[in-house]
Amino acid sequence: MQSPSKRISFALIGFGRFGKHHANILKHHPNVIVDSICEIDPAAVQQASREFPDAKIYTEPFSMFQEIDVDAVTVVSPENTHAEIVQAALNSGSHVFCEKPLATKLSEARELAKISLERELKLRVGYILRYEPRHRVLKQQIEAGQLGEIGKIRSKRDVSRSWFEAYGYRVHSAYETLIHDVDLVLWFSQQRCKSVSAWGGYLLGYNVPETLVMVLEMESGTICILESSWLVPGGAPANIIGWEDSSNAGKGVVEASLEVIGTKGSSYLRTYEPSLTINDDTGSYCPDLAFWPQIDGRTVGALREEIWDFIEELLGDNHAKVDSLEDAIHVQEICEAAIESEKSGKKINIS
Ligand SMILES: NC(=O)c1ccc[n+]([C@@H]2O[C@H](COP(=O)([O-])OP(=O)(O)OC[C@H]3O[C@@H](n4cnc5c(N)ncnc54)[C@H](O)[C@@H]3O)[C@@H](O)[C@H]2O)c1
Repeated sequence: MQSPSKRISFALIGFGRFGKHHANILKHHPNVIVDSICEIDPAAVQQASREFPDAKIYTEPFSMFQEIDVDAVTVVSPENTHAEIVQAALNSGSHVFCEKPLATKLSEARELAKISLERELKLRVGYILRYEPRHRVLKQQIEAGQLGEIGKIRSKRDVSRSWFEAYGYRVHSAYETLIHDVDLVLWFSQQRCKSVSAWGGYLLGYNVPETLVMVLEMESGTICILESSWLVPGGAPANIIGWEDSSNAGKGVVEASLEVIGTKGSSYLRTYEPSLTINDDTGSYCPDLAFWPQIDGRTVGALREEIWDFIEELLGDNHAKVDSLEDAIHVQEICEAAIESEKSGKKINIS
């Protein structure tokens, strides 16, 4: 750990469900100052002012960037706001950590990567699974050749229907759920994708599918089948509890797993292990202990690993070096192709 004398100042954009976790993690890093917070919702503004009395609070990100001078920005606003905000943050000279997706158009994502490279600024995208210990161990095993050549990757990511109706509908499922699995495919297979076929299900009647299946053909022959639906019913035992939640607004389920099958071995990872079950008068729940559990008022788990790793990089210290902007752009390319395939009914080749 660096000495607290070396400080990194941060601005945070979006103090919502996930932004509160980011803010908490930044607050507890000894080398970080939360300099400013930008939020448009009046109730969230009030909460941010209460919890961060020393931070400057803004209600509009673009004028904020003209007034502040920070080392880094973390972007945790809704998906379709990211590209413009990240661009403004980079142009103001700050390093950026952006929650997924980086953008909802490939052309915008490419432009952001170009700006960050030209200006020599770090640009990271929130692919949290790369920082979770079981995924890290699996990656090491694959790299060590334990599974041989990878023949097939199969992943499943089903989430609560109530979340789709609350916020999941605001962007295509490719960008909301399966984007994580596309990223894992690139990280584990170390191959580029040559074609994408996708199918969407629209049973809930929204403009974007609540069910999405993608098949990816990778350049060295790995076939990947990725499945997702926002149809887990309210009665399923919750594993995501939400931020100090009394309203239950954030409570729900992610049911996810990953299989990697190779010529020499295979693996199965149950992403949300229900290792702790609590039963009460309303039913049972199995709080997640891997990704962003809150313990004694602190958010810990893979999200803390991920954000602290970014800070370590900014401090010039050792860090995991598992992020890849090149992969992040290819993920965007694959998601855009999946949306085109799902809409047109055609297989999309990626050159
Ligand atoms: N990596 C993960 O596993 C993971 C998990 C959850 C959420 N996320 C991502 O985090 C992001 C935020 O998700 P969330 O669930 O917290 O959403 P949210 O809607 O709860 O929070 C977004 C917040 O941003 C605020 N906001 C909206 N427009 C803004 C603007 N222009 N400037 C500043 N603030 C603005 C909203 O008022 C809201 O409080 C999304 O991109 C989401 O995909 C990632």
